[in-house]
Amino acid sequence: MILKTISLSKFFDGLKALNEVSIGVEEGSITLVIGPNGSGKTTLINTICGFYKADEGRVLFEDKEITNRPPHEISKLGITRTFQIPQPLKKMTVLENLLIAENYGTSVLESLRNGWMKKEEDFVEKAFKILEFLNLDHLWDSPAQNLSGGQLKLLELGRAMMRDSKLLIADEPIAGVNPILANEILDRFVKLKSKMTFLIVEHRLDIVLKYVDYIYVMANGRVIAEGKEEVVEDPRVVEVYLGAED
Ligand SMILES: Nc1ncnc2c1ncn2[C@@H]1O[C@H](COP(=O)(O)OP(=O)(O)OP(=O)(O)O)[C@@H](O)[C@H]1O
Ligand SMILES: [Mg+2]
Repeated sequence: MILKTISLSKFFDGLKALNEVSIGVEEGSITLVIGPNGSGKTTLINTICGFYKADEGRVLFEDKEITNRPPHEISKLGITRTFQIPQPLKKMTVLENLLIAENYGTSVLESLRNGWMKKEEDFVEKAFKILEFLNLDHLWDSPAQNLSGGQLKLLELGRAMMRDSKLLIADEPIAGVNPILANEILDRFVKLKSKMTFLIVEHRLDIVLKYVDYIYVMANGRVIAEGKEEVVEDPRVVEVYLGAED
């Protein structure tokens, strides 16, 4: 397991947004977390990545304790987190958004000392290879704000690739994306599995299920079921979704 949470809990006043959540993410897998609105999925991501402090429990990445480490330290270990709404630097071009991702977490001085300037050409070459892989190469010179929602999600994946991230934690990577592009995004995840592991939260089960290796189902801050694709037919899972509809 590349990532593990052990009885992870997060409380907001009286609310147990995460209640003793234990999950494992196998290296090279696409692991999916599902559950009705407000079940704690984003809170789980935020607590793993250090955006929220855990109240109880532990987070292990590559068997090392990362519980409550600050987000930039967790990021440096090779974990990239993406958001429900992509957050590119809008005025910068697609290419620039990749180049600054590579240099993420390093101060300008430090990067000069490391000869970053000399390596700039290599980074540009790497960025273009990534853009080709993502079918974004024709847009390299466009400001990020001109991209569609789906293209922005691809750009976020590109930023993670630029950094050679080991684990991508993506909150709703295909939300609001048309089905063709959504399938394209998930297909890219599959192609990257030999290099990257994916922990994703997603509501669009009709599209996402065929791409994932393992599923955790959350309700009211707890994991109520886990397993392969069939888990969505588990009566406990059907019940929490039906209960959420009224
Ligand atoms: N910063 C916060 N302060 C207080 N309560 C919060 C905070 N963040 C989340 N919560 C609460 O924790 C619970 C879980 O929220 P969370 O955002 O994790 O749900 P989710 O499963 O991601 O839902 P969705 O599918 O709608 O994105 C909700 O009741 C939410 O109101
Ligand atoms: Mg959420």
